[in-house]
Amino acid sequence: MAAPRDCAPCHAERVRAQAATAHAQALRPYAGEHFNGRTLREQGGAEYSYRGNQVLVTRAGESAEFLIRWAFGSGVQAVTPVLERGGRWIEHRVTWYREGNRLGLTPGHAITPGPEIVDSLGIVQTERNVQRCFGCHTTGGEPGVTCQSCHGDGAGHRKAPAPGNIRRDRSVALCAQCHRSPDAVYASAAPEMEDPRSIRFAPVGFQASRCFQKSNGFTCVSCHDPHAENATPSVTPVCRGCHAEANSPCPRTQDCAGCHMKASSPAPRLRFTDHRIR
Ligand code: HEC
Ligand code: HEC
Ligand code: HEC
Ligand code: HEC
Ligand code: HEC
Ligand code: HEC
Ligand code: HEC
Repeated sequence: MAAPRDCAPCHAERVRAQAATAHAQALRPYAGEHFNGRTLREQGGAEYSYRGNQVLVTRAGESAEFLIRWAFGSGVQAVTPVLERGGRWIEHRVTWYREGNRLGLTPGHAITPGPEIVDSLGIVQTERNVQRCFGCHTTGGEPGVTCQSCHGDGAGHRKAPAPGNIRRDRSVALCAQCHRSPDAVYASAAPEMEDPRSIRFAPVGFQASRCFQKSNGFTCVSCHDPHAENATPSVTPVCRGCHAEANSPCPRTQDCAGCHMKASSPAPRLRFTDHRIR
């Protein structure tokens, strides 16, 4: 078993706080949240109506109803439904975006779907791809990214507490297991110039920044608390920890990230922060 309840007897407060994070909610059984009662008409003619945990797809006079199993994404940015049909997994064509509270095309899906009604339902994922989706969005078979995703199952730990903490200086590699590492995607001095979409992968930019490369112990958790409810991290004190002097030509006003870690939208309706500090 790998669930926060295994840790709760001794780490109750942490378990309670972590349950409210986007990590813990990165995958949930689909219950219609954000979709229920809504209808989307695509320009191509397909229509999607959501009721409870079903979607009714209508196209060229033909219609069929499908049961949705999973909601991927906490909803901080977006939620993509995933269906199971005849033993095959389908990533739904329609995604809910927080920006504008709108339903729209799932990233990576073709503007014009194939000829069958199921083509309008979404993309059949290979077994390998789906295992990868669940791999990053679950913990030991249970939905969401929780304690054991980062700490291991700590089987021995309960008898003799203490082992298994993450060395802070190694934690970037841990985060990069899911947030992607430069090796797996791009190894470049300026990855965002090569591919603007790479800013989706925070470790790629972060590890390309001089701040990371020329210092020790600067990691994701310097700014992000991995256990607390999502909040905009308080970055300025972290920067000031290493850049204390009021050195020109930088104006050094309060919001360091606003100028040195700019946010942008490399995919429609999704927003990411460029983690190559510069
Ligand atoms: C029987 C009680 C107990 C259970 C169950 C338990 N822990 Fe702990 N854990 C402790 C104690 C006691 C400490 C040491 C004091 C502290 O750091 O809070 C500790 C410390 C830790 C540390 C820090 C280790 C270090 O080197 O500083 C981590 C990480 C941790 N626990 C994770 C977990 C996870 C994950 C689970 C569930 C899989 C878990 N624990 C279950 C009692 C427990
Ligand atoms: C097991 C995979 C996994 C690991 C390991 C992981 N993450 Fe995540 N992380 C995710 C997923 C999936 C999401 C998307 C959550 C959602 O749907 O909004 C996410 C989202 C986030 C967010 C955005 C939350 C928000 O409120 O917008 C931050 C920040 C983050 N992770 C930081 C980290 C840090 C720091 C580490 C390392 C200590 C880490 N993650 C390790 C999978 C992981
Ligand atoms: C290598 C790990 C990994 C795999 C594989 C993966 N995800 Fe994610 N997913 C993440 C992380 C990390 C985030 C948060 C940062 C981001 O958006 O890239 C995320 C975010 C999301 C979001 C929220 C939108 C957003 O951008 O924050 C959705 C929806 C989602 N994933 C669905 C899926 C689906 C469906 C699959 C399989 C087709 C999948 N993911 C495969 C790691 C992964
Ligand atoms: C996204 C990855 C991630 C998740 C999920 C996560 N942790 Fe941690 N945890 C870390 C990292 C990284 C550190 C080291 C942080 C540091 O040194 O500041 C840590 C440190 C700890 C510590 C010891 C240091 C401290 O801050 O007291 C404990 C205890 C702990 N985690 C317990 C848990 C429990 C219990 C859960 C589930 C409710 C959990 N963690 C979920 C990444 C995670
Ligand atoms: C752990 C220490 C550390 C932290 C924290 C840190 N930096 Fe740096 N930063 C450095 C070092 C070391 C360099 C390289 C200086 C050099 O090359 O001489 C650097 C370089 C820079 C540069 C020049 C980059 C370039 O490519 O030439 C800027 C701009 C910068 N930092 C801004 C920031 C901002 C803004 C923050 C907070 C978001 C921050 N730093 C956090 C250590 C740090
Ligand atoms: C209004 C935008 C803005 C804000 C806010 C800002 N900076 Fe800068 N910063 C710049 C610009 C522009 C440069 C580059 C100047 C040049 O190279 O000509 C720079 C350069 C730097 C450099 C590299 C040169 C040097 O002075 O060593 C560092 C380090 C730096 N900033 C740190 C910070 C920190 C820390 C904060 C927050 C306390 C901050 N900056 C806030 C715009 C800003
Ligand atoms: C210097 C501080 C700092 C460090 C270090 C840092 N982040 Fe961030 N991160 C931010 C800021 C600021 C935001 C924007 C938050 C907001 O707008 O609410 C952010 C946002 C995010 C998001 C949400 C999506 C986005 O791009 O806006 C994810 C996921 C994320 N960071 C992951 C990571 C990971 C993984 C690491 C380590 C590789 C990391 N961060 C290191 C400051 C930092």
